[in-house]
Amino acid sequence: MFMRTTYCGLVTEALMGQSVTLCGWVNRRRDHGGVIFIDLRDREGYVQVVCDPDRAETFKAAEGLLQVVFDPDTKDTFAQAEKLRSEFVVRITGTVRPRPAGTQNANLRTGRIEVLAKDVQVLNRSEPIPFQLDDETTGEETRLAHRYLDLRRPEMQRNLVLRHRIISTLRAWLDAQGFVDVETPILTRPTPEGARDYLVPSRTHAGHFFALPQSPQLFKQLLMMSGLDRYYQVARCFRDEDLRADRQPEFTQLDVETSFLDEAEITALMERMVRHTFRQVLGVDLPEPFPRMSYDEAMRRYGSDKPDLRIALELVEVADLVKDTEFKVFSGPANSKDGRVAALRVPKGGEMPRSQIDGYTEFVGRYGAKGLAYIKVNDAAKGRDGLQSPITKFLSDAALQGILERTGAQSGDLVFFGADRRSVVCDALGALRIKLGQDLGLVENAWRPLWVVDFPMFEFDEKEGRWIFLHHPFTSSRIQSVEEMERDPGGIRARAYDLVLNGTELGGGSIRNHDPAMQMAVLKQLGIGPEEAQEKFGFLLEALKYGAPPHGGIAFGLDRLVMLMIGAPNIREVIAFPKTQTAFCPLTRAPGAVDPKQLRELSIRTAVAGKN
Ligand code: AMO
Ligand code: AMP
Repeated sequence: MFMRTTYCGLVTEALMGQSVTLCGWVNRRRDHGGVIFIDLRDREGYVQVVCDPDRAETFKAAEGLLQVVFDPDTKDTFAQAEKLRSEFVVRITGTVRPRPAGTQNANLRTGRIEVLAKDVQVLNRSEPIPFQLDDETTGEETRLAHRYLDLRRPEMQRNLVLRHRIISTLRAWLDAQGFVDVETPILTRPTPEGARDYLVPSRTHAGHFFALPQSPQLFKQLLMMSGLDRYYQVARCFRDEDLRADRQPEFTQLDVETSFLDEAEITALMERMVRHTFRQVLGVDLPEPFPRMSYDEAMRRYGSDKPDLRIALELVEVADLVKDTEFKVFSGPANSKDGRVAALRVPKGGEMPRSQIDGYTEFVGRYGAKGLAYIKVNDAAKGRDGLQSPITKFLSDAALQGILERTGAQSGDLVFFGADRRSVVCDALGALRIKLGQDLGLVENAWRPLWVVDFPMFEFDEKEGRWIFLHHPFTSSRIQSVEEMERDPGGIRARAYDLVLNGTELGGGSIRNHDPAMQMAVLKQLGIGPEEAQEKFGFLLEALKYGAPPHGGIAFGLDRLVMLMIGAPNIREVIAFPKTQTAFCPLTRAPGAVDPKQLRELSIRTAVAGKN
């Protein structure tokens, strides 16, 4: 005798007339005048179970036809069913029959059948649960605090199963390509990826700390120097940074490193992997090859290094047209080296009410923009008279004409403007582009992957007054000699590449420095002198001296990949036990206070009152 014969969610017409034994949770019990309906739920979905005290005869007749002989005491079954409450765990045996005409549910896999119960057994009871699983008004904090209940929702089960399928597909593909899965340490030295470290105090080395890896970057490079040739790992990474919808403090990378491949070969290989995975898991054919775009072009046209190509709106340069205007808001940035004046045409945006424009002005303010100038094009043929705007009075006819031509604005359109430091204009109009796309329904329903390449190697940080890296300090550049680096750091291009999908940065990687002198020069440019370099990465610098092969790789944000592939609204939906926006786990209530004795052992004293 089996505990169960099939999953609830898999009872379909193929089992018509047969007896099935199901185990699952009571999703809902409905009493309909003497007949009880139970929505029974398990990993695979729901099935409707019917307990009908008066149907013993028909039931028997139906079974008779199928030559299944038994004599159900349906009255007893009914009495059992009456006791059921939500989330009771039950075992139900019954017969699969068609649902009566008109009661079928096309949205359910099991929607054409129901199970007429013969035996209902309670395996475990449940107290009333803190929230209804399908109640969409339940706050996330509550759901996360009882995540094991939240995960009972079929959508969440589906997410976790799909995540598993995506990862196993990737693993199988990498295996077939000769990649070797190697685990790297979690207790390690800081790995500079630009975020804050999570530190772990050492008991045996008082006053010293391990850092949790921000990525396995240094180890994967060392594995190339070990001669492993092709490495991958489904690697947990830890970054103490401000969280967003697509960021977690602890996340998973698909981490890859190869020797003796250049950037064209690595990106082509990884593209095949991603294409294969979409095909296998979603049945989707991604474009072949993925398009490529330089960082400069992405910033110019989309104001972002991860442009969402599903939205056709583009930024257009207008600085040269407005540099002589008396309107300082425009002429200032237009004449400044790191300023930018750009326009963004919104097709048919002319009808936009003032309140909506004010809303967008406030929106770009969050990105540092001091305003959001606009021109409504009522009638393009009428020149200045056909335009409606608070700024036309400052602009010459030639400038207005030039703006209309360059943006391609037609009657009925609206043109927004950003004028500020380059980075502010890019951030503000780049974000506005996405927002307009969403608000105005301009997001194409498609998969639009893109390789962004030719990143600058360094960026000058005005606040800190020094050069910082765009990728990480082990990335190599297009230059051949150390002298070239010192001549024009801002002009150097990195041998780095990012894979972007529908506006999300899915992965990033680079060819590394395998020449110790070049590596030292990069560190020096970042203000890391020989001593500090030795202290922090001495082991890597030494390894570079003993025959390091040319190598490079990439890391994909696996959670992000899964999130996109299954269409989840945020990264927490695809992680079994995620943390909140404040990096807190409501389920385990981590981080928590620790026993003072533990701290003494670690030679630590905390300064926070009330917390040890
Ligand atoms: P990078 O820092 O670009 O590169 O990270 C690679 C990818 O990891 C994902 N990611 C995140 N996902 C969720 N939460 C986060 N906090 C988070 N941070 C990053 C992104 C990103 O594209 N060692 C290099 C890779 C290399 O050079 O090979 C690295 O870690 O999708
Ligand atoms: P003001 O002269 O401040 O009234 O601004 C006139 C118009 O220019 C308003 O529509 C402002 O929203 C807009 N504006 C002000 N500063 C900027 C800026 N930095 N970039 C774009 N538009 C701006």
